[in-house]
Amino acid sequence: MLFGRLRRPPPPVEPAPPVWKAHTLRDNYSLSDEQYALCATLTNQVQDLYDQALPYSRSKGLDPQLVLPGNEWAEIVKTTGLEFRKDRAHLDYLRLHAPFAGYHLMFLDRLDVRHFAEPWNQEILDRFSREGMTPEIVGFLADRVDPAQRLAPFVEEYRQHLRNVDRRYIVRTPRLFGEIGLEIDGVLFNPDVTLCQSRINGLLSAGVIGKLERDIARRGRARVLEIGPGYGALAYALRSFFGPDLEYIAVDLPSSLLYSALYLSTLAGGQGCHILAPGSTLPGSFANLFLANYLFEEVADRLAPIDLALNTMSFTEMSPLQVRHYAETLRRLIGTDGVVFDENAAVRPHHTDSKAIFADVFPFRKHVESTTVTTKNWCQDVWANRYIGEVFDVSDHAAFHAAASGSD
Ligand SMILES: C[S@@+](CC[C@H](N)C(=O)[O-])C[C@H]1O[C@@H](n2cnc3c(N)ncnc32)[C@H](O)[C@@H]1O
Repeated sequence: MLFGRLRRPPPPVEPAPPVWKAHTLRDNYSLSDEQYALCATLTNQVQDLYDQALPYSRSKGLDPQLVLPGNEWAEIVKTTGLEFRKDRAHLDYLRLHAPFAGYHLMFLDRLDVRHFAEPWNQEILDRFSREGMTPEIVGFLADRVDPAQRLAPFVEEYRQHLRNVDRRYIVRTPRLFGEIGLEIDGVLFNPDVTLCQSRINGLLSAGVIGKLERDIARRGRARVLEIGPGYGALAYALRSFFGPDLEYIAVDLPSSLLYSALYLSTLAGGQGCHILAPGSTLPGSFANLFLANYLFEEVADRLAPIDLALNTMSFTEMSPLQVRHYAETLRRLIGTDGVVFDENAAVRPHHTDSKAIFADVFPFRKHVESTTVTTKNWCQDVWANRYIGEVFDVSDHAAFHAAASGSD
């Protein structure tokens, strides 16, 4: 009887799906007048670099095959005639124009393999190309590109990338230049952030972050050189971890250097940031040094020693001649104590097999794999001129570190 009078327990309640706070285009911080003025000046400097690429290279007898955009980039970038925009409507949303890894922040989608319908109509497209990013277009997009909907399927992958990563080495992405996404554990997330965290995790697992820490403890600074930095995500992450002790050199085609120069210089408040002009002297020390690819050859040996050289997702897109040239130059610049970290895979027919070229040039290679931290891509390697014990003695520094510090 007693049992008969008891009410049935209520059915278990499904936990509500997490509600992630979105950071949308409407929340974007505009550049201050000072930041805007800096960006406009830098744009003029990079425009000069772009305009001088051909005449300068000819006057110096540089091989056009080496210094002009090659392979995939020959189709992407015109060698003359580009005019870089410097109106506010463009600069305040610079990141929307920088889909270097194929992910378009404007739509929160890839355009090669789309997950969502494109939120455009012809009128908006025409206005966008005429006027840039106006408040009306921001509103139109913010209403149709919902970060919560578009990014929720990728949150788990991002959280996997935070597994076992010391808080010090979690990528924090500035909410400037139109960067949008979801707020996860207090920081901004979108797939470009996951990609950057994956590279940081690879550097951690490879023992390269530890090597930089020791370089800085020993000499008070470390020097990193990245070829093809895109808009500068990895550069910003590494400089935010190490601060002024890390000098960062970005080498790129002028039309791409524009993005890293504006992004990194603005975020550094312009302090210690230099765009090298043809014929000018190298600064003795710097925070960020921006080098057009056609000037690299001329100054390369004066940049040594380089503690870490980086390349992600770009050697494969260059010509074999360019990759071999970079490999041989980096071999000189890293000397006996530096390393090269690369993440590249030749997955399309036109891609250059950069790993084969690097294997030909460098005597030591370590493939990066981790059981402890997550990396998105499987094609990360470290290259060196000698067996550097602090990097090569351990196969997964992240696991080693986690075991030593007692975490799982
Ligand atoms: C696909 S993007 C990758 C950007 C960034 N590393 C990332 O993974 O997001 C390729 C980069 O390589 C650069 N690049 C192409 N050809 C180059 C060359 N000959 N010298 C230097 N950089 C080059 C591009 O301008 C661009 O910054």
